Amino acid sequence: MPTTLITGANRGIGLALVREFQSKGHTVIATARDPLSAKDLKATGAELHSLDVADPASIKALAAGLMGRPLDFLINNAGLGDRADITRLDYDRFEEILRVNTIAPIRVLDALTPNLAAGKAKIAAALSSQLGSIENTDMGFGLAYRVSKAGLNMGLRAAACSLADQGITLLALHPGWVKTDMGGDGAPVEPADSAAGLYKVITGSKPSKALRFYDFEGKTLPW
Ligand SMILES: NC(=O)c1ccc[n+]([C@@H]2O[C@H](COP(=O)([O-])OP(=O)(O)OC[C@H]3O[C@@H](n4cnc5c(N)ncnc54)[C@H](OP(=O)(O)O)[C@@H]3O)[C@@H](O)[C@H]2O)c1
Repeated sequence: MPTTLITGANRGIGLALVREFQSKGHTVIATARDPLSAKDLKATGAELHSLDVADPASIKALAAGLMGRPLDFLINNAGLGDRADITRLDYDRFEEILRVNTIAPIRVLDALTPNLAAGKAKIAAALSSQLGSIENTDMGFGLAYRVSKAGLNMGLRAAACSLADQGITLLALHPGWVKTDMGGDGAPVEPADSAAGLYKVITGSKPSKALRFYDFEGKTLPW
């Protein structure tokens, strides 16, 4: 039975991913900032761990707790949204977004690389966004968010080169515009449908030394 770790699993796409991977027979290790109060997540029966991805000590503690445990799939899902354009930027918030969306997924990947290297599938996916596509950007909203996801894509692309010799494959994934607290009520994609698509893309991925950027339907996105 494959083992999959999902961050930010208490709500939104993360929670839907927990349910999807469990329904396909995976052992799911689900992390949340405050797992004890995560009612819906607790109801899934997933193995719960506490993780604040913005806190290096928290990542270190998670990795120590999972030492020696093989991981097949790692999904860096936790993230922060923001819609401000340059005229309304809050720079403290900008820094927080970079910490959570860009630096944290790399730090989590780095901390759990030994676990992935010991797993069979050796696939690490991160929830990026089409808003991080430089080529597709022709609107100004979400400046900090766009920068954070474009930076994440570059971090993953560079990491893919370094981790290839351990057989680890990296994926940057756009989940669609999804009805969550971040995506809002007007979003056209249900979390369960996004998670079902992401499951197929993640588990259907062939080993690769190069980072790929897909949406939840398997379409390649431009950098
Ligand atoms: N929804 C969309 O349309 C959309 C589109 C493109 C990409 N994405 C990406 O998909 C991912 C999930 O988005 P979502 O729509 O499910 O967002 P969401 O509903 O706002 O949920 C965000 C999740 O991230 C967690 N999180 C935030 N900061 C954290 C931290 N410091 N440590 C640990 N967990 C933290 C939240 O935990 P708390 O409950 O503790 O805050 C929550 O579980 C994000 O990376 C997002 O950028 C979403």
